[in-house]
This record gives sequence, C-alpha cells and structure tokens, in this order.
Amino acid sequence: MALADQLASVLIPEAQLQARIRELADRISADYADRTPLLVSVLKGAVYFMADLTRAISVPITMDFMAITSYGPGQGASGAVRLIKDLDEEISGRHVLLVEDIIDTGLTAAYLLRILGARDPASLRICTLLDKTARRIVDTLPIDYRGFEIPDVFVVGYGLDYRQLYRNLPFIGVLRTDPAAPPP
Ligand code: IMP
Repeated sequence: MALADQLASVLIPEAQLQARIRELADRISADYADRTPLLVSVLKGAVYFMADLTRAISVPITMDFMAITSYGPGQGASGAVRLIKDLDEEISGRHVLLVEDIIDTGLTAAYLLRILGARDPASLRICTLLDKTARRIVDTLPIDYRGFEIPDVFVVGYGLDYRQLYRNLPFIGVLRTDPAAPPP
C-alpha cells in the first residue's frame, strides 16, 4: 500500500506548507537583517523544515544539528530527554534560532532551551513549524515564529514519523489509526 493511502486525511497540503515556510523565512530575514544567525535544529524530525526554511532565508546564516532521544510513553511526553549528538559549533555570543518540527507538551523544547541558554548565546528564539497548543505543559517558551497551530491529533509527514515511517511524505497528514489508542 502506498504511504499516502495509510492516512486518514491530509491536514496541511504541500503548497500551503511551502507558502507558509516562505512567509516565516521572510520574517526571519527581516528580523536578522544585520546579524548572522545560527539555526539549530533537532534530528531527525526537523530536517525537511530546516532544509526548506534555510533555503528561503535571504540573509547569511550558519546551521548546526543536535540529536536527542525521548523516553517514556507518549512520544517524549515524560520530558525525559537525553542528548545523543551535541552541536559542532560554539554558540557563545551567537544569535541562536532553534528550529523545531512540532511543539506538543513543550518539555523537549524547554530542555533544549536550558542546554542552549546555559552556553551564553546573544539571543535565543524558537521557530516551530507546528504548534499543538492543546497539550502544552510548559507555556513560557519564546516561540517567535510559528507555522501552524494544529489540533490535538497525531500527525506524520514532512519529517514527522510514526515508528520511523512517513517522514518522507511532502505534506502533513493524520494517521488512519491513532497511535495513542490501545492495541486491538
Ligand atoms: P513535546 O511533547 O513538545 O516534548 O514533543 C516531543 C516530541 O514528540 C516532538 O519533538 C515530536 O518528535 C514528537 N511528537 C509530538 N507530537 C507528534 C505528532 O503529532 N506526530 C509525530 N511526532 C510528534
């Protein structure tokens, strides 16, 4: 069965995704006009967003990547996160923009902000493609750039996975079966 046939619906079609990313990139280009921001993103979910966003930004930037694992039930909802790949670059004095695929409870982003904030960046902001506000636990995140606010559904595609699958869909879709539901 083709990947797209396993979905209940398309939540954000590719054209809408790309149009919104260009808008975010224009705002970032204007806001960081006289600086060279360091865009930091988290493997693997944010890679497509990072690739499209950075190509649409018109000011000089550098980029770096981190990798983390989340423990516990609910896709990291326990908030227990471990760093498995750190940044290559020093961020002291840099204008850092954390690029996220999705913010759900906010616990992962809060953990990353703590790590990055302790390294003395000149500024630290968040750009997230998707924002699932209904499940937010940490509500003090500096989300300066937000692509779409989405309802409390489990989404896949454009980097987001369910058991490592569906990342390569070029749009955001909703799975036919809810992964949070108990097994049949
Ligand atoms: P948090 O709850 O904000 O800490 O989000 C933790 C992580 O859960 C995110 O970075 C995603 O990797 C994952 N996640 C949350 N909601 C979804 C979803 O709807 N689809 C796929 N992954 C999700």
